[in-house]
Amino acid sequence: MQEVAYVNGVFCPMDQAKVSINDRGFQYGDSIYEVIAAYAGRPFQLEAHLDRLRASLEALSIPLDLSTLKIESVIREGLRRCGFEEAMAYIQISRGEAPRSHIPPADIRPTIVMTFRALPPVSPALRKHGASIMTAPEIRWAKCYIKATTLLPNVLTRMQARAAGFHDAIYVADGGDVREGTSSNVALVRDGRLIFPCRDQSILHGVTLLTVTECAAHLDIPWDERPVNVRELLTADEVFLTSTTEEVLPVTRIDGNPIGDGEVGPITRRMMETYADLTRGRGVFENRLRHSA
Ligand SMILES: Cc1ncc(COP(=O)(O)O)c(C=O)c1O
Repeated sequence: MQEVAYVNGVFCPMDQAKVSINDRGFQYGDSIYEVIAAYAGRPFQLEAHLDRLRASLEALSIPLDLSTLKIESVIREGLRRCGFEEAMAYIQISRGEAPRSHIPPADIRPTIVMTFRALPPVSPALRKHGASIMTAPEIRWAKCYIKATTLLPNVLTRMQARAAGFHDAIYVADGGDVREGTSSNVALVRDGRLIFPCRDQSILHGVTLLTVTECAAHLDIPWDERPVNVRELLTADEVFLTSTTEEVLPVTRIDGNPIGDGEVGPITRRMMETYADLTRGRGVFENRLRHSA
């Protein structure tokens, strides 16, 4: 009996199985999985697990035909090779391997990983006395201030936005609270003031946004950090996104409607230019580069 792995069509011992660090399962959690118990070498409720796997693939728009993959026979073969009386087949399918970017290339091919191990036994004491558990607040996907790699929601939203012809999307919570972009913070301009949503647990506390507040101080532009409603966003004079890679990015249309006059506004432009000068040590920032040599 031995632990067995399977990666993209090839069986190997568990300690030899490898996937790329560019795999989107590793980079984004852009992957799905199933765990199937097997008794006496036979997978239990295999059809139900495969139905759920198909549904998960479809939800992520990962184009993979499980029957072409002959997944049932791969699972049975893995169970046969590992040989445990009671075993656990773990299946993980990621969107595939590609240089890190929220939007995957069109020709990406899914990564298929399986492992076959002994089914871990539940302790007899737990069975006999039962478990002591606690209640917990429902926090799943609610701690967006953590820069975690589990970016599947962000990836799906960005893909949806791109498919609909938009550059990106801004998250709006139930009740209309504006949060942030899929990989950026959002700020708006109203009556000459910068306004951006509270840096609480619901958004990532962007370093670029922090830098924008420093630029605002430099430019004598007042700013407010407070709840922002989507109506306020849509009727803002100007809107821009901030992120390390896109820096200060003007937003001129949201949901097809122009923001302000539909052109890049004067405060956004100043902010964009000031940020570019600051990062490149130009103009008044010539001797004030923010990064070390
Ligand atoms: C969800 C989200 N919000 C905001 C940001 C902006 O953060 P920063 O300005 O530190 O790049 C990012 C950057 O990746 C992000 O992923």
